[in-house]
Amino acid sequence: MRINILAIESSCDETAAAVIQNGKLLNNIIASQSVHAAFGGVVPELASRAHEKKIVTVVNDALASAGIPVNELDAVAYTRGPGLIGSLLVGTSFAKGLALAQGIPLIEVNHMQAHVMAHFIPERKPRLPFLCLTVSGGHTQLVLMRDMLKFELLGQTRDDAAGEAFDKGAKLLGLPYPGGPLIDKLAASGDPGRIRFPHTSMPGYDFSFSGIKTALLYMLKDGVAKSPDFIENNLNDLCAGYQHRILSMLMEKLKKAAEDHNISTIGLAGGVAANSGLRAMLQGEAKRCGWDVFIPDFGFCTDNAGMIAITAHYKFLEGSFSDLSAVPVASLGPDLAFGS
Ligand code: KG4
Ligand code: ZN
Repeated sequence: MRINILAIESSCDETAAAVIQNGKLLNNIIASQSVHAAFGGVVPELASRAHEKKIVTVVNDALASAGIPVNELDAVAYTRGPGLIGSLLVGTSFAKGLALAQGIPLIEVNHMQAHVMAHFIPERKPRLPFLCLTVSGGHTQLVLMRDMLKFELLGQTRDDAAGEAFDKGAKLLGLPYPGGPLIDKLAASGDPGRIRFPHTSMPGYDFSFSGIKTALLYMLKDGVAKSPDFIENNLNDLCAGYQHRILSMLMEKLKKAAEDHNISTIGLAGGVAANSGLRAMLQGEAKRCGWDVFIPDFGFCTDNAGMIAITAHYKFLEGSFSDLSAVPVASLGPDLAFGS
């Protein structure tokens, strides 16, 4: 028997759909929303409207490219949360309508769990227990997975997410949104040791990135007061120092978690996984500690429906379906669980 599942992701500003057959991902369709660039960040109201406009085309593209007619679907999966509530409502309502019309089960997927599950899309899958650092514009989490679909949230940011720290820092430096990739590029030809930023150490496995952003703000104010060209003259070193500190704070907790729990299968997820410095640090640590490192292709690190599809596949196998009255949830409770 073939299991065909359509998955829909609409938690933030990507309208995405994917089809998975027997655990093999057939496609990964994403329509990005360019409307937010002019505002320097995602505007929730505009995101919901853009999802509403794009969702039918994106779903049709996914079904057409998979060559699977809608009446051959065995289930429809959607992101229930966390995310922007208006955005989540579009995907949720669409998935429910489709499930109802086709008389097929509905599978709710937790977006943060799905980022971890993205590592199970390729043939080479991580061995359990698996420790994953998810670093995006909205989240910074250390998640331990001992068994399939069982997630333990070890730590998370208490304020800004790592990607947010990159983007806010970039804004202070006069760089356009999203600034993470630009800081990465400029840092490559800078000296990470010349301009130093404070290291904030939180208890346990938690992170904090608001201090480093404030440190940059005051450093730039002081510098520009003394020399109007301070930023221009030091841009590469500022980026290198700032990036280095964000990465060293991430690596500190990742190493601690791996050591404390005696885990050597390590994954990286989220948009910040694209950062060349972070990848280099992780590979270096892998050599030193004998870690087996997993970083999905970039399209599966950022928000996508493929990760929703792979999670839905495993949920289908264990018969974990949701009913039509489930409502989207903007934020998560402990251990990445949905509240009631
Ligand atoms: O996962 P993602 O595409 O969207 C969500 O936030 O859900 O992550 C986007 C974040 C942005 O903050 C962006 O600046 C950051 O990932 N990012 C990077 C790099 N590429 C993307 N940060 C640092 N270095 C990069 N190369
Ligand atoms: Zn995400």
